[in-house]
This record gives sequence, structure tokens and C-alpha cells, in this order.
Amino acid sequence: MSNYHIKNFPEYYHVYRNSVREPETFWEEIAEEHFVWKKKWDKVLEWDFSKPEIKWFEGAQLNITENCIDRHLATRGDKTAILFEPNNPSEPAQHITYNQLSERVNQFANVLKENGIKKGDRVCIYVPMIPELAIATLACARIGAIHSVVFAGFSATALSTRINDSDCKMVITSDGSYRGSKTIDLKGIVDEALESCNSVETVLVAKRINSDINMKEGRDQWLQPLLDEASTVCEAEVMEAEDPLFILYTSGSTGSPKGMVHTTAGYMIYTAYTFKNAFQYRENDVYWCTADIGWITGHSYIVYGPLANGATSVMFEGVPSYPDFGRFWEIVEKHKVNQFYTAPTAIRALAKHGTALVDKYDLSSLKVLGSVGEPINEEAWHWYNDTIGKKKSPIIDTWWQTETGGMMITPIPFVTPTKPTYATLPFIGIQPCLMDENGNELQGNQVEGRLCIKYPWPSMARTIWGNHQRYKETYFSAYKNCYFTGDGALRDEVGYYRITGRVDDVIIVSGHNLGTAPIEDAINEHPAVAESAIVGFPHDIKGSALYGYITLKDLGESRDHTNLSKEINQLIADKIGPIAKLDKIQFTEGLPKTRSGKIMRRLLRKIASNELDNLGDVSTLLNPEVVESIKENRL
Ligand code: PRX
Repeated sequence: MSNYHIKNFPEYYHVYRNSVREPETFWEEIAEEHFVWKKKWDKVLEWDFSKPEIKWFEGAQLNITENCIDRHLATRGDKTAILFEPNNPSEPAQHITYNQLSERVNQFANVLKENGIKKGDRVCIYVPMIPELAIATLACARIGAIHSVVFAGFSATALSTRINDSDCKMVITSDGSYRGSKTIDLKGIVDEALESCNSVETVLVAKRINSDINMKEGRDQWLQPLLDEASTVCEAEVMEAEDPLFILYTSGSTGSPKGMVHTTAGYMIYTAYTFKNAFQYRENDVYWCTADIGWITGHSYIVYGPLANGATSVMFEGVPSYPDFGRFWEIVEKHKVNQFYTAPTAIRALAKHGTALVDKYDLSSLKVLGSVGEPINEEAWHWYNDTIGKKKSPIIDTWWQTETGGMMITPIPFVTPTKPTYATLPFIGIQPCLMDENGNELQGNQVEGRLCIKYPWPSMARTIWGNHQRYKETYFSAYKNCYFTGDGALRDEVGYYRITGRVDDVIIVSGHNLGTAPIEDAINEHPAVAESAIVGFPHDIKGSALYGYITLKDLGESRDHTNLSKEINQLIADKIGPIAKLDKIQFTEGLPKTRSGKIMRRLLRKIASNELDNLGDVSTLLNPEVVESIKENRL
């Protein structure tokens, strides 16, 4: 059916128009023709953004693993589903076929059941990028357990917060993980996290680094012996369209991380459809997304989207810099990768090392290059386009979010003409709009405002786990009848969108969303710290980096600031993870505040970014005198 695979611009235009004129008819056709159902729906869409309540395909029953695995077995049983490339280049890659994936997912699903996991239970998956990670998520989906994957770079505190928020009954982990030349003691982190978690009954441990770890009697079990005993047949649980598939935590500008809840049918349809088109995936292509499955990019575009299309999806355990900065390109050559999807921060880091490590490898298999997670700057875009794509592989700059489940604004390669730094046009079915500060929609082109979405799409998150009110306030309260993204954007003269960045206190560092509040909370726990404020500033590789302004209590005054900075960063690494460490720490006598006592972050942001000329009128501040001293001592 032509609607499923868009091949040229007139077709995009035509299908897009239909998809927004008659969304229900459009999505119904896609659902009908490209997925397997145990029972069809009664109603395609029911929605009310004021509650907010969004239901797609109500009444339908399905299991996503039957769509991602079982239905391919007859025709693609021996095709590679997951191509695992280990951290160490001399360890052989593993080609896991759809038949093997089916057996392994079913065995794992049986192990979950035998350990008391039932439909609706939450299972925390804290596993590095090894096949067990993908298999564990699919095994949960097979039996209707809700997976909550926590990125295996998060600290024990971050892990326990997430386990407790959704009362996970089980944790799946590994003895440890490889990261370049280092190993990480994952099980040790889990043990520490579980000291403050009461809901966890079982910990399943995959063996990866063969380290000597502590196994707690009655709670911890090695995974492999259980899998060896388990049957390779496990009937797929009957899931309602709107049953939760997973929870994935994302940082908010304030408060604890938000457990975004994604449901089954809409998520499946939208990730599959976007995958097919945004990568122009063809049978026998080898597709590689370098993200970690701990983030939404990995959920949607390593696991569910590719597998729903019967694709071969590369899963890479390592880092771009090990054993050297040519690793990505070595993998592209080795596996003849056709579609490559990564983040601007990786592109910038690799570009810094020149072209010698690129020129060594044959990249002629590449057809499409993707970018995700943060705005891609012009220089990085051109390097990616010229040096990697040799000007023949279109770059798709895909804008989307954990909350949106799938890509929202992106070029379709060979269909939408690309423009550096522009995410270009909305994907099929997506109705973006730009709002001004008074809540009015900006009409026409050449306008800049806050990016919202006017109409539901199938893969949008339905709620925040345990806190629907927060979901409503965060996304549906700023503008009436619109989903507010938290991003600013502009629309150029032809209607192309360019994302200008967050308009709230979320800072994107190396493609990772970081809320300022939890970092400030961590810093403020240091006994010498009185108060802190974190802002972002431009950084060559990371896109944005963190700048902390910190005031000390009296007892800190005599302390050595270098040591104090180290302690503060260690505290952040312990509480959140190393990704949230500050690049610059400025100790100051005070923080600029408004008369109502609010920290003037706008001002601090400008100082950190060295935009000292237009700080605006500071005379109305409660303490204007601190501004001069902060300026003088800026790092
Ligand atoms: O600010 C936008 C930025 O990343 C945010 C979403 O982050 P997260 O939920 O972690 O999901 C990242 C992977 C989908 C957005 O609000 N962002 C994401 N993609 C782009 C982007 N900013 C500019 N251009 C992009 N292509």
C-alpha cells in the first residue's frame, strides 16, 4: 500500500494532507494493513487535551512482540534481527536471527513468569548494551509486564528513585559492563540502590564481564541457568491497545524525573511507520542507531520500530572513541551499514579528530544519515554531510522527545530537500504550531515561537506514572488545547522548522536532558554549600555544558575551592550520574535575585555564555551589587 512507504515529495504532500484532514481514516488504514491484531478496535481515536485523555484504537487487542517477532518467522526466520557488535573489536559480532530472537524472548518471558512477574507488574531493566537488554524488554512485552529501562550510566541514587517511583518488583542487570577500556560494577550499583527499595523481590543477573560479585541469597539469581531450563514457547499475553507497554523516565525542569507512560498499539504503529519512512528502510538493509536502549531513541529505533519492520538492527556495546575514534566507521564498513543514526555531540567529537580515521574505511554502503537529540550546528551538519555522507546520503535531522515516542519533525530522505540545521517538515499526521507568549498561534511563515502540537498522534505518552496532574500541568496547561513541547522553534519562508532549543530549565548536554533542579538539589546537600544555580553555556562538543554558581556557608570560606569543586562534582556523579557533572564552578558571594526572591537565571545564563553587553536593567534586583562581582569573576 503506497501510504505506508512514501517515495517522493508529491506523495508526501498528498499523504500528509490526508493524514491531517482525516487522521482517523488515515491511521486506521495503516493499522489495518500493516500489523497483526488479536481483535480489531471499536474506535480509532478518542481525545480531550483538557483532561488530558488520549486513546488510540480502543477495543483492539494485540501483542507487540507478535508484530515485532512472530509474524516475521515464516519469511524472515533466518534473517538477522539484532546484530550485536561488542565493545572489544576482537570479540566476534553476534548475528541473532528472528528465529533465535523468538526463542530467546520466549525463554526470557518464561523466566519472568516463573519468578512471579505478571501482566501489569513493573520490571526495571538496568543492563548495558548487550543482547539481553533488547531481549528483556521484549520478554516483558511478551507477558504484558511494564518495562522501565534505566540507562546503565545512572548512579545508584538515580536508579533507586526510578525503581521506587514505579514500585518495580524485579530488577534485571548484569555483573558489570564494558565501556571502552573500563569496566563498570553494575551489580554493585544495583546492590547500593536496593538498600533503599522495598518493592524489589528478585534480581536477575546476566553475566557479561565475569567479575566476582555479591549475590544476595533469596533475591539474586544468575540469569543464564534459568534461561537454559526455560521453554522456548511462551504464549503472547493479550494486551489492550491502551495497556502500558513501558515507562521511561525523563528529566523535568523541576522536581523528580517524570515516568512517561507509553501504551501499546499507537506506539507500535507510529514507531514502525516513522522507521520505515524516515530511514527509507528496504529489505536486507543493515540499520544502525548508536543510541543506548536506555533512552527513547533506543526503545523506538533500535528495538520496536526496526523489529516491527523485520529489519536488521545493529546494537553496539561500546563507545565511539575505543579503541580509537575510527570505531564507528570501522563498524559501518564491517557490517555494510546502510542507515546510520547518531547524535550531534558524537558527530562533533569525531569531527574534531579530522578525516584520517574516516578515510581509512569504506563507507560506500551508507544511504541515509540521521541526527537526533539536540540541534545540529551548521559546522557539524556539513562535516557529517561531506565527510561521512560524501554529499550523497541525505541527513535527516529528526526532532522528537521521550514524550512523543517517535519522530515528529524530520525530512524524509530522497523525498524532502534538506537544509542544514533544519528539521524541515512535520512527519505524516503531525500538526505542529508556533505560539507567541500570549498564547496566540503564529500564522504564516517567517515566525518564531514556542513549539506545540495541535492534534494527537498515536505514540504520544499518555500520562506520567502516578501523577496525571503533573502530566496535565507540564504539557497541556501552557496553551489551550495544545501539547506544549518545551522547545522554541522558527518556521522559515517555505514552512521549514528549525528547533532553537529548550525554553525551560532543561539543559541538553551531549544529547542528554538534564533538569537544573535535581542537580542543584544534589549540590545543596554538600555541607559547605548555601545555595546554587545551574545554567547552560555553549560548548564545542557537548552542545551545551553546565555552569554552576555556588554560594558557600561560612564554614566553607576557608576551604580550598579546587577540592570543593571536586567534591561537588563527585556528589553530582553519585546522586545523578557522571553526565550531570559541571564543567565550570564559580563560587560567588550571592546569586542575583528578583524582589520576590527568585534567582535570575536569564542573567546568569548570559554571563556564563559571555554575553556581557546586554544584561538588561539589573537595578530592580534585590541585590544588584552581586552582578558586577559575578561578571568580574566569571570563568
Ligand atoms: O530540545 C529537544 C531536543 O531534545 C529534547 C528531547 O529530549 P529527549 O526526551 O531526551 O529525547 C531525545 C531523543 C528523541 C527536545 O525537547 N531535541 C531532540 N531532537 C532534536 C532536538 N533539538 C533539536 N533538533 C533535534 N533534532
